[in-house]
Amino acid sequence: MQCTFAANYRNMNHLIAPSLLASDFTRIGETATMLHNSEADWFHLDVMDGVFVPNISFGLPVISAMRPLSDKIFDVHLMIVQPERYIIDFKNAGADILTVHYEASTHLHRSLGAIREAGMQAGVALNPHTPVELLEDMLQDIDLVCLMGVNPGFGGQKFIETTYRKTEKLRNMIDRRDLPTRIEIDGGVKADNAAQLIAAGADVLVAGSFVFSSPDPANTIKQLKHIRG
Ligand code: DX5
Ligand code: ZN
Repeated sequence: MQCTFAANYRNMNHLIAPSLLASDFTRIGETATMLHNSEADWFHLDVMDGVFVPNISFGLPVISAMRPLSDKIFDVHLMIVQPERYIIDFKNAGADILTVHYEASTHLHRSLGAIREAGMQAGVALNPHTPVELLEDMLQDIDLVCLMGVNPGFGGQKFIETTYRKTEKLRNMIDRRDLPTRIEIDGGVKADNAAQLIAAGADVLVAGSFVFSSPDPANTIKQLKHIRG
């Protein structure tokens, strides 16, 4: 019974983190203000280096420029090699949560410690092929696990269905140990899979193209926020 209550409680409080990758970069200030005034909980900011992933997006100066426009959480997703080199820089740019990829981190435990030491929450992202079981021994050191629903690098890709099962497995691993670690799903999230992801145990939904390709992004954020798992 206890477990059921905990799951229901969490599911009624899922967070929405729109990814600005799909937004119009000529109007990034207006977008930041729109997100600030919307029901979005976090800003999801995708940093790509053209090495870890085939694409290059934006980096430190863009995040610093947006920082004064909202006091909402800046959830920075680093899709870069050697992310440990930039931990302090992203803190200074205004990141509240800094997520590094498991696949890009030779000394993941050290990087997570350095992120927390710098005063941020520490996140780990897993590519679709990376099993959640690899995090078993360090879950207590992780504030956020970002499960990729697509291969990272681009917005607008098709959701990979095995993500549901990964979400359930990770939910069980976290709940068995009664940890506060959050599960975030990134890539391919839309209104038609959000409920199933929340029911599987997701706490945070990232949505890029579904929000920014819609005629009224603020209303689409509201729609995602009010979905029940
Ligand atoms: C993909 C990024 C995502 C992306 C999601 O590499 O990490 O955050 O913006 O975009 P959609 O929601 O369009 O799949
Ligand atoms: Zn992302």
